[in-house]
Amino acid sequence: MRMTDSNILSIKDRSMTDYKTPQFRSVLSALSPNQGAEMLRYGWTKPGIISLAQGEGSMPTPDFIADATYAALKDGKTFYAPVLGVPELRQEISNYYASVFKAAIPTSRIFVTSSGTTAMHLAMTSILDEGDEIIAITPIWKNLLGAIELTQAHCIQVPLEHNAEQGWGLDLNKLFDAVTSRTKAMLIVTPSNPTGWTMTAQEIKTVLDFARERGIWIIADEVYSRIVYEGTRSPSFLDYAKPDDKLFIVNSFSKSYAMTGWRLGWLVGPANSETPVRDLALYDNMGPPTYAQYGAMAALRHGEPFIAEQVKLWKSNLDMVMDRFEKNGRIQMHRPPATFYAFFSVDGEPDCMKLVKSLIDESLLSLAPGCAFGQCCAGWVRMCFAVSEQKMEQALDRLEKVVQKA
Ligand SMILES: Cc1ncc(COP(=O)(O)O)c(C=O)c1O
Repeated sequence: MRMTDSNILSIKDRSMTDYKTPQFRSVLSALSPNQGAEMLRYGWTKPGIISLAQGEGSMPTPDFIADATYAALKDGKTFYAPVLGVPELRQEISNYYASVFKAAIPTSRIFVTSSGTTAMHLAMTSILDEGDEIIAITPIWKNLLGAIELTQAHCIQVPLEHNAEQGWGLDLNKLFDAVTSRTKAMLIVTPSNPTGWTMTAQEIKTVLDFARERGIWIIADEVYSRIVYEGTRSPSFLDYAKPDDKLFIVNSFSKSYAMTGWRLGWLVGPANSETPVRDLALYDNMGPPTYAQYGAMAALRHGEPFIAEQVKLWKSNLDMVMDRFEKNGRIQMHRPPATFYAFFSVDGEPDCMKLVKSLIDESLLSLAPGCAFGQCCAGWVRMCFAVSEQKMEQALDRLEKVVQKA
């Protein structure tokens, strides 16, 4: 570049500020604090800690998935693949929807992504502009709120109702009243992390009808749809959706198939979404790892007994948790119908950060503070119970060292 007087001046101007220090986008310094991540890091430093603060089971990925992946690697599946996924995997996901959800979803609406989180980012960034409003039902996994912040859309939180007899529930009028002329989308996690609250088929139908009439997008996170304690899956938006509805479904291999570290998920979009999502994925991440997608195919083809076995173990852990909470007398929780989270409150402990910190310091048990899940939940704590029976017992003993019986 030729140095002109005006260049020189602007360089002089910049020298007044600290232009040599690396500066990042302002949206990053404006991100809201993540108390869950903060407590997780705090717990990690302690030798002997039992961590039930993160959302994953303690079983490694089963051999039939690992073996299929290894075979793919040996077979040279190590090159770039189509951005929206290997065609056989897209077909396998379509087959999965046909057999488990009785839904006919063509492969042109199914996009393989490197994680459920990536599927969520693709869904959001393909529809949200700066300043749009998105309604999120809370409590909600903090990372989804963070993903909204990155889009610079404005998030309106609509909290679930809670009462001791019925547990968590959605007031549909509150949800609909939150809609304004700027509302672009609603974000609904069903079954919900952290509460286990699961939308009924009737609620799904009503919300879908409302959104259709108002021209609002629904982003439904159905990552926990197979972790249910009655039946084999939760009600899905796909049970009622038409191909041209403004609907994205986020899903993942992480939770159902013990594949959290694999970073593989998928997105289902409307009939006209293949081109925009492909373009976005192309410039964003160029698609998921090729060889790993062969493991995902094996998961969908042969994974049903594994899911059933896991859910059986988690159900018996949940029985244990309910029994111990009841005997404790100070811990309040309505039995969740789905997911592997116990989201509870403790009588006389309104400050979840204080409680989580003392659990780490005094009994080496790391849990997630409720305040990380939205404005509504400062008095709550989340514990993942997707561990072995022995570890669960040990964790409950440690919890009761701090939360002593009434
Ligand atoms: C509701 C919800 N959606 C998405 C994810 C992320 O899934 P993945 O591991 O595929 O990124 C999680 C993980 O905890 C979650 O709780």
